[in-house]
Amino acid sequence: MPLYRRMSIMLVAMLALAIAAVAWLRSPVLLSPATPDAWPSTASPAALTDAATEAMIDALLAQMSIEEKVGQTIQAEIGSIKPEDLEKWPLGSILIGGNGGPGGDDRAPAAAWLQMAQRWQGASRKIPLLIGIDAVHGHNNIVGAVIFPHNIGLGAAGEPELVRRIGEATAEEVAATGIPWTFAPAVTVPQDARWGRTYEGWSERPEVVAAYAAAMTLGLQGDLVAGQPLAPGRVAATAKHFVGDGATHKGIDQGDARISEEELMRVHAPGYVTAIEAGTLTVMASFSSWNGEKMHGNRSLLTSVLKERMGFRGLVVGDWNGHEQVPGCSAKSCPASFNAGIDIFMAPNDWRDLFENTVGQVRDGEISAERLDDAVRRILRVKAKLGLFAGDRPPVDLSRIGAADHRELARESVRKSLVLLKNDGILPIAAGTRVLVAGPAADDIAAACGGWTLSWQGDGNTNADFPNGQSIWDGVREAVTAAGGVAERSVDGSFTERPGVAVVVFGEAPYAEGKGDRKNLDYEPKEALRILRALRAHGVPTVSVLLSGRPLGVDDEIEASDAFVAAWLPGTEGGGVADLLIGTGRDFQGRLAYGWPATGGGTAPRYPFGFGLTLR
Ligand code: BGC
Ligand code: BGC
Repeated sequence: MPLYRRMSIMLVAMLALAIAAVAWLRSPVLLSPATPDAWPSTASPAALTDAATEAMIDALLAQMSIEEKVGQTIQAEIGSIKPEDLEKWPLGSILIGGNGGPGGDDRAPAAAWLQMAQRWQGASRKIPLLIGIDAVHGHNNIVGAVIFPHNIGLGAAGEPELVRRIGEATAEEVAATGIPWTFAPAVTVPQDARWGRTYEGWSERPEVVAAYAAAMTLGLQGDLVAGQPLAPGRVAATAKHFVGDGATHKGIDQGDARISEEELMRVHAPGYVTAIEAGTLTVMASFSSWNGEKMHGNRSLLTSVLKERMGFRGLVVGDWNGHEQVPGCSAKSCPASFNAGIDIFMAPNDWRDLFENTVGQVRDGEISAERLDDAVRRILRVKAKLGLFAGDRPPVDLSRIGAADHRELARESVRKSLVLLKNDGILPIAAGTRVLVAGPAADDIAAACGGWTLSWQGDGNTNADFPNGQSIWDGVREAVTAAGGVAERSVDGSFTERPGVAVVVFGEAPYAEGKGDRKNLDYEPKEALRILRALRAHGVPTVSVLLSGRPLGVDDEIEASDAFVAAWLPGTEGGGVADLLIGTGRDFQGRLAYGWPATGGGTAPRYPFGFGLTLR
C-alpha cells in the first residue's frame, strides 16, 4: 500500500477517534437526567389501589399530625430503639439488620423472634408498625430455618416455578416469626463477578432475572386481590436495589455504574418491570450511583421513571443509611433523598435526629406537604395490603420453620442448581464404592450457606447452629452407605485404605456486600489443589465440588479433577449434592447463568453462559 494511502487511513481513523471522544465528553447521557419516556411503561396491579382502601387512607391522612406522618417515613434498627420509644417518636417501621436479633442475640430461638415481633406490633398504636428483615435465601437470620441456595444457584436451575415455590416456603417461615416484610428478592443483574454481591443475583442476563423476579414476587406475596390483604403466610417482597447495582465499575460495591441510559434500561430494569407487574409492594433504592449521581438522590429515576413511567404504587425504601451518601446529606438529615422519591429512610441508628430534622424540613417547606403525603399514602397502602390495620394477619405455626416439606424443597433446589463442568466418566459414583470425602468445606454447613446466614457476613457459624441442616459430608455418607459403599472423611485427603474415588469440597469462605469484593477472580488458597494432585498421584480419581458465590478462575483445580461440579452456595441441604454424585438415576439440570472465566481472566470465558454437562 502506498504511503499516502496508509497516511490518509491513519488520518481518518484519528479524526473518527477525536469525534468519538468529543461526542463522549459532551454526551447528554452522561450529564443529564434520565429520559423517562424511553423507559418501559407499566403499572402496579389495580388491586393495590382499590377505592375503599384509598378512602381509608384519605381519612387517616386528614387526621395525622406532621410528626405522625414523618414518623411513618423513618425506619430504625431494633438494636437502637425500644418499643417504648414509639410513644415519643411515632416511627412507622423497624428493621432487623443482618446482625440483629431479639435482645441483640441473633442466635435466639424462633419463639423469641416471634415474641419480639409481637411485642413491637403491640407497641404501635394508631398506625400499625411495619417490620422488615432480609430473608434472602430462606428465613436466613433464624436458627433452624431452611436455608435455600443463594440466588446464583437458583439462576442455574433455570426454573422460575421452583423459585415461586421457594418464595412461598420462605414467606411462610418469615410470617411464622410475626414478620410481614422481607428485603428480597434482589433483582440485580451482576455484570462483574468481582462484586461481593454477585451471588445475590440470579443471572448476568436480564431475561433470566425478569422471569425469576415475577416468580419470586408471586411466591412471597401471592396474587394481589382488590380490597383484601395478602393471603395467610404471605409477606411483602422488595425488588432491590433500584437500579444498576450490578453495573458498577470494576464490580465495586456501592460504586458507580458508568453506562448509557440505554444499557441501564435494557440490562438492569427488566426485573423491576416484572416485579411491579407481579405486584411487588416495595422497592429498595441502590447504594450505587449512575454516572456519578447517587441513586438515593436521583429524582428522575426514583420518581419520574419508577413511580411515574413504570407506575409503581408501592413504597420505596432506602438502603441502610443510603441517604447519607447523597451530596449535602448526612445520616441525620437528607431532604434531597426524600424529595427524590425515597418514602422510607432506612436509618438504623440516627433515626431520632433524622426524625427531628425531617419534621423541621416539612415545617419550613423544604419538603412539601404533597411529597410527604405521597410517601405516607404509599406506606399506609402497603400496611393495608398486609392486613396490618385490621390486625388480621392470621398467625402461621412456628413449626413451619424448618418444616420437612421445606427441607425437601431445598434439597430439590440444590439438585437442580448444581452445574457439571467436567466429567471424564467418574460420575455418577457407582454403588458399593469406597468414597473418601476430603477438603476443608465438606463438613461445613456455614461454608455451604455463605453470607446473609444467621449473621450478616455468615461468619461465626458452626454445624450446631443448623439443627435442621445437613452437611455435604453427611449427605454423601448417607447416600454412599445406602448404596452399599463405605464413606470416609479425611480433611487433607490422606487415607490408609485406597478409596475408589475421592470427593473434594472446597471454596470461598462466607462474605456479604463489599467485604466480598475482589480484585480478580482467581481462586486462592491452593490447599484443595494440593489435595487433588496428591490423590491423583496415588491413582485415586477425584470429584471436585466448588462452593462459591460466583464463577472463579480454577483452571488448575479443574485439570486436577476427573469431574468438577459448581455447587454455588447450596445452603442447609447437603444431601442435594449427594443426590447427584451418587448414582440414583437423577441427572444434572443446572446450566451456567453466568459465563465462567479462565484463570487469569482473559476475554473469552472458559465455559459460556448456558454451559452444563449431563451424565447421559
Ligand atoms: C443492604 C440491603 C439490606 C439492608 C438491610 C444493606 O446494607 O444493601 O440489601 O436489605 O442492608 O439489612
Ligand atoms: C447490618 C446489615 C447491613 C449492614 C450495612 C450490618 O451491620 O447487620 O443488615 O446490611 O450492616 O452495612
